[in-house]
Amino acid sequence: MLARSRFILLLLFGVVLAILSYSLQYLQLVPVSPAGGERSGGKNRKRLNPVLLTAPPEPDPVAESYHYCNLPNRTQHSWEGHSPVNHKLLSIHVMIRHGDRYPLYSIPMTKRPAIDCTLSPKKNPSHPLLSSFINHMSQSGRAHWDASLSSLPRLPNHSTCEMGELTQTGVVQHLRNGAVMHQAYFSSQQVASSVVSQGQLWLESTGKSRTLQSALALLYGLLPDFSWPRLSVRQQWNTLFCGAACDCPARNRYLELEQRRQYHQRAADTELDQTYVAMAAALGVTPRVLRASNPVDALLCHLCHNLAFPCAAGARGNASCLTLQHLAVIRRQQGEDERARRAAGLYHRYAVLAAHPYLNTTAARMERATRAARQPFVFMASAHDITMAPLLSALGLEEAGFPSFAARLVFELWRGPEDKRAKERGRGSDRGPGERKKVEPAFFVRVLYDGEDLTFKTSFCRAHDRHGDTPMCPLGKFLSFVRKDIFRVINATSYQQACHARVL
Ligand SMILES: *[C@@H]1O[C@H](CO)[C@@H](O)[C@H](O)[C@H]1NC(C)=O
Ligand SMILES: *[C@@H]1O[C@H](CO)[C@@H](O)[C@H](O)[C@H]1NC(C)=O
Ligand SMILES: *[C@@H]1O[C@H](CO)[C@@H](O)[C@H](O)[C@H]1NC(C)=O
Ligand SMILES: *[C@@H]1O[C@H](CO)[C@@H](O)[C@H](O)[C@H]1NC(C)=O
Ligand SMILES: *[C@@H]1O[C@H](CO)[C@@H](O)[C@H](O)[C@H]1NC(C)=O
Repeated sequence: MLARSRFILLLLFGVVLAILSYSLQYLQLVPVSPAGGERSGGKNRKRLNPVLLTAPPEPDPVAESYHYCNLPNRTQHSWEGHSPVNHKLLSIHVMIRHGDRYPLYSIPMTKRPAIDCTLSPKKNPSHPLLSSFINHMSQSGRAHWDASLSSLPRLPNHSTCEMGELTQTGVVQHLRNGAVMHQAYFSSQQVASSVVSQGQLWLESTGKSRTLQSALALLYGLLPDFSWPRLSVRQQWNTLFCGAACDCPARNRYLELEQRRQYHQRAADTELDQTYVAMAAALGVTPRVLRASNPVDALLCHLCHNLAFPCAAGARGNASCLTLQHLAVIRRQQGEDERARRAAGLYHRYAVLAAHPYLNTTAARMERATRAARQPFVFMASAHDITMAPLLSALGLEEAGFPSFAARLVFELWRGPEDKRAKERGRGSDRGPGERKKVEPAFFVRVLYDGEDLTFKTSFCRAHDRHGDTPMCPLGKFLSFVRKDIFRVINATSYQQACHARVL
């Protein structure tokens, strides 16, 4: 009884708070400078997130699945290449997820989806660059290839797709990515044409044909007819792009703990359980066999390619078919799992350690680019969902959601105006040699995901006052985040320490 009335009291209190903060946010009742003396100084002021009275709209698992498909007929937006005047772009560091691919698993007792993985400009979806891209790939031997990658096919080319093979949709997705980036970076004078025509291109890929082919498509969209001898292609042996720093026991431990959490959450979902039972019954297999085949991967492929959902081979009638409703239940649970994962924080700790080597390498390349003139302009990493998701989490961008096919994450390095010195010299009469203090140019980073500017949502620049003197995010914030602050969440100060700490 007591507990119950206390609960109701709390509830009422919550509603009052919610109304207050809602009206404060939206009716602008918050005074610009705090007048009352109840809180001294502005230090304690935090920006409140509005607490909405109505529940947020239920996420729609089918709409989210289409978003995951990332069909190449959606209009794309791109905020890449934007800066205040007089800033110079020094380099871009791109990580992509490969484009649309054939499933990695097949559903037992069903026919595999009928998709043709050969490329043809006459097939849908197509792209104006597709036929010249196909031609350009035939000269790829002139690039500098890691021996291990040189044997991979440069184009998908099977009339019945192989498991995991990139489809024409996947190629078109990345041609489009490259084309919007081309427009953003090279259509104005932001990038000197010498950089475009002579700069080196640096490409790292995992050993899968779909990542290599995706990267080549993006590169071609970005720089049509790029010169092959300028391109260096390196293989990353680990999907985390961790190079020589892959040994990290604590990372594996956090992943285990997260997987255990995930398992319990899944097992507690009765609707999911019943759905697997129904699906298994339709196909005439056991639920265990069905679950092991990871049917969501193949069902998403049917959805993305607008194919009828699979039915048990030789069956008559709809009772032995899988349905959109089945997929919706699985995706609904996955969405909930993603939200619970964020709340639990285990995945974020895993992500910090998983993403650190790539971030550290990127930070080092940026720092080098601030000093040396002749550096590659484009650094490209072509990877998987399991590479991209930790990177987003480590940067504090979990809200971006699970990476769609052909997702792209771009870091831009900018140099601020150099004319400060000249201005100062011109202004004053005190022009003695002692006064000619060298003003270091300032450097800035931007972070974009699928064309959207998320710089000020990242952990390292969330608190930056972009309406103050510097409307861009200083490179120094990114560097100190990567080298130290990123480890705070695991109570460590370095990668080595964090990786070898005991995780209970
Ligand atoms: C894109 O194509 C899909 C499937 O062909 C279709 O359902 C959708 O309406 C199209 N979207 C746009 C914006 O044209
Ligand atoms: C694709 O394969 C066919 C034969 O299997 C071959 O004739 C054709 O040249 C290949 N196309 C490309 C672009 O590699
Ligand atoms: C199967 O479902 C389709 C689409 O929902 C419907 O048009 C068709 O009549 C159904 N067939 C049977 C045998 O129920
Ligand atoms: C980070 O990069 C720097 C510069 O390349 C390197 O010296 C350092 O060892 C790297 N740190 C880790 C933990 O990999
Ligand atoms: C963080 O590390 C310090 C020193 O290693 C230790 O004393 C402290 O208990 C740790 N805190 C947590 C929450 O793990």
